[in-house]
Amino acid sequence: MGYKIAIDGPAGAGKSTIAKLVANKKGFIYVDTGAMYRGLAVHFLDRGIVPDDRERIVRACEDADVTIRYENGVQQVYLNGKNITSRLRTEEAGNMASVSSAIPEVRAKLLELQRSLAEDQNVIMDGRDIGTCVLPDADLKVFLTASVDTRARRRYEELKEKGTACRLEEIAADIEARDLRDTTRETAPLKQAEDAVLIDSSNMSIEEVVDAIVRLCS
Ligand code: DC
Repeated sequence: MGYKIAIDGPAGAGKSTIAKLVANKKGFIYVDTGAMYRGLAVHFLDRGIVPDDRERIVRACEDADVTIRYENGVQQVYLNGKNITSRLRTEEAGNMASVSSAIPEVRAKLLELQRSLAEDQNVIMDGRDIGTCVLPDADLKVFLTASVDTRARRRYEELKEKGTACRLEEIAADIEARDLRDTTRETAPLKQAEDAVLIDSSNMSIEEVVDAIVRLCS
């Protein structure tokens, strides 16, 4: 049995940045479950499906095969045999993933894949329901959060650096809408597991958060 770290939290809390650094420090495999939901989202978008067309989303799950490979230690997402990793981080894929991930059939499609990746190896897995649902027996559970204002500012700086035009108020509104969807859905909503350690990174540096998590690994 490997050591399992579960990191959950809202969009923009820095989960993937932190989890990657902890994985490097500990020599663990990093599993990004949001990328899997985004992978299915790309499949739905490629079929011209709109986010509120629940029926077509459920049907489209039947011919979607999402798999994960590691190339030079970096997670790659394959959809029906094709590497689609470079298409995952768009706002369109993020919004489709946020809406479609509320559908039980979509979640069921990815649950076994996520659990199998944590079998027999040391992993740090991030998402929304890892500590509560995917890996309820994780050795360490962290709920990583930050204020909406902090998360919106971080995202704004990130997009500005990439040269993407954006408005801070729109990013904040998008984050709030995503928080609401993720926390109020019926199946596996985002919530802190009872045995998770809460870390609010609003006033912490990346290094401080990484060190805090490494210290918590016993
Ligand atoms: O972490 P992210 O932004 O890449 O995730 C995209 C969407 O996928 C997010 O809005 C909610 C969903 N998601 C989920 O429901 N459960 C997970 N374990 C991971 C992501």
